[in-house]
Amino acid sequence: MILELVENILTPCSLSFRRVGYLRGQLGIKVRHRQCRRAWRTHLELTKMAILSAIQECTQRRKCLILGSGRLLDIPLRELSQQFREVILVDTVHPLAAYAAAAWYRNVRLIRADVTETAEELVRVARRRETPLPRAAPTRFCDDPEIDYVASVNLLSQLAYLPGVFLEQGVRTEAEIEAYSHDVLSAHLGYLQRLPGIVTLITDVEKLVLDKQGLITERIDILHGVKLDGIKLNGEGDEWTWKHVPLNLLSRDFSYDRRVCAIANVKS
Ligand SMILES: C[S@@+](CC[C@H](N)C(=O)[O-])C[C@H]1O[C@@H](n2cnc3c(N)ncnc32)[C@H](O)[C@@H]1O
Repeated sequence: MILELVENILTPCSLSFRRVGYLRGQLGIKVRHRQCRRAWRTHLELTKMAILSAIQECTQRRKCLILGSGRLLDIPLRELSQQFREVILVDTVHPLAAYAAAAWYRNVRLIRADVTETAEELVRVARRRETPLPRAAPTRFCDDPEIDYVASVNLLSQLAYLPGVFLEQGVRTEAEIEAYSHDVLSAHLGYLQRLPGIVTLITDVEKLVLDKQGLITERIDILHGVKLDGIKLNGEGDEWTWKHVPLNLLSRDFSYDRRVCAIANVKS
């Protein structure tokens, strides 16, 4: 408890990002990973393998950009650092563990940024009922011709999740929140098309509720109606199930899985 409090104080995070809940979310991943280490292992390894397989297609290896790098649980950092001239890790909040891991490599850099480029504005207007919520039109890194590889790692559903929780505490209607959520997710897909280099998307696409026998009782759309239709999967191994909340963690009666897709190059 005391260690968590210290980590909360020491982790660099802007006031706006704190208000949206990004710091809380990042510290929450640490706790959840500790509780679910075994259940998550396959998903984390498959994600690393998808990245390592995708970089084989890079003809040059200057800069590598990882969006949503977080605790680096699913990032093959050592291999990326060996193979690229520079590795740039992007997240709203980098946990202290990521600063420590990056310190081992002289070519790994961390950037604190919101990849939707809406969070600051969201905090500013959230309580002004008459002001529309921001529209996402991210551009950061799009003009850097040295970026040869990008991976967007397990953050598509997350792009809307914490902002949604933040907005629910205020004056915005459900319809406004839903429209904002749909917009940031579809803008992220457009952003990935505009970024330079080979661009991998690894994302959860659906949440499954299972009963104690392991039978699916409900399928929940976590992408707010956004479809990955235009983007092709490349065959076996590109889709798997993440045992996200195993039985007995939240309840003896149900567990949650997530269906995850890896798209080696969203532009192909
Ligand atoms: C499910 S976690 C991904 C796991 C992460 N790759 C790891 O290994 O810990 C989602 C990550 O996306 C980050 N994230 C969520 N919204 C973001 C945003 N708007 N901009 C940048 N990062 C964001 C979170 O802080 C978190 O680290």
